[in-house]
Amino acid sequence: MSDDSRWIGAALALAERGIGRTAPNPSVGCVIVGAGRVVGRGWTQPGGRPHAEAMALAAAGEAARGATAFVTLEPCAHVSPRGPACADLLVAAGVARVVACGTDPDPRTAGQGFARLRTAGIDVVEGVRRAEAERLNAGFLARRHHGRPHVTLKLALSLDGSIALADGRSRWITGERARAHAHLERAWADVIVVGGGTLLADDPTLDVRLPGLEERAPRRAVLSTSLAAIPPGARIGEARLLRDIAELDADPSVLRVLVEGGAGVATTLLAADRVDRLLVYRAPILLGGRRGIGDLGLADLAEAHGRWRRVDALELGPDGVELFERQRSICHPRESGSPSPAA
Ligand SMILES: NC(=O)c1ccc[n+]([C@@H]2O[C@H](COP(=O)([O-])OP(=O)(O)OC[C@H]3O[C@@H](n4cnc5c(N)ncnc54)[C@H](OP(=O)(O)O)[C@@H]3O)[C@@H](O)[C@H]2O)c1
Repeated sequence: MSDDSRWIGAALALAERGIGRTAPNPSVGCVIVGAGRVVGRGWTQPGGRPHAEAMALAAAGEAARGATAFVTLEPCAHVSPRGPACADLLVAAGVARVVACGTDPDPRTAGQGFARLRTAGIDVVEGVRRAEAERLNAGFLARRHHGRPHVTLKLALSLDGSIALADGRSRWITGERARAHAHLERAWADVIVVGGGTLLADDPTLDVRLPGLEERAPRRAVLSTSLAAIPPGARIGEARLLRDIAELDADPSVLRVLVEGGAGVATTLLAADRVDRLLVYRAPILLGGRRGIGDLGLADLAEAHGRWRRVDALELGPDGVELFERQRSICHPRESGSPSPAA
């Protein structure tokens, strides 16, 4: 692995800290390296400002002069009422080199950040570990490219694809390590959604039960066309009732949605092609119970192929998790509505 790739890895790890808290902005990480050592680090702060580069440059001070900035997204080229353009800050700080993952699709930046750096004589390298950076900011990119949030569907299945016993009980299918992994996914979401059936059957809390991350529980929502209100005393607490998941499309504070079932919701969202990522936990048990996914209305087997690509797999004690991404071509915002700009 090259040094550039390694330092970008450190910047990606910083960017991860902001996922789920920076909407409407992407979560970016920045490491400034001078003479082989880190002189500044930053990541996008809750609410989207300050930006990562501004934080890292403030920490580096004079040590930024002649240094290299490793950043997970193109530095912004636009001045907002909430802060200066990061490309201008990097120029003013006198960095010699900028290494970045990919271009910011925000039309106010979209290549202009890199151009400004090059005009100032800074050596710019683009495209380092781009796929990982895009995965981190899948929510921001889905809004930009498709005009809606990115949706992950989480399912905990037995080997035979059941999500619950025949009588509806599903606690617990997977073990502690798998559940802890799922709680980290919750911390990365802006909103977590369950169906009305799960609300009534399981009375879930949907909180983040990981030491130090308890405050990171996302907003909750329940999908149902018939529920008049969230039942008083439900453990979910304050939750938004959604008649249609598309209601979240108009809310720029929602970049990443985590759907935690049950089967009805999984089936309707998959049939409507509203799922971008599948998080499938599988326990080594056989239940012969309720199927996790119902009829998707496929006319032909060929329709099922080529949609999903496995991008990761992990062992979590006795269980496993596999991640799949929906293969889509990018549709630009002009074709699908106009997402609100980042700040
Ligand atoms: N193993 C797991 O990963 C897991 C996770 C969660 C739950 N579960 C289990 O799954 C079972 C519950 O599953 P379920 O299928 O009965 O319930 P569900 O999927 O949680 O909820 C189904 C209800 O959600 C609403 N709904 C579904 N799609 C919708 C859409 N696109 N827009 C608006 N509303 C929509 C409908 O309510 P209306 O009829 O009111 O419109 C539908 O009746 C329980 O046994 C639970 O323990 C397992």
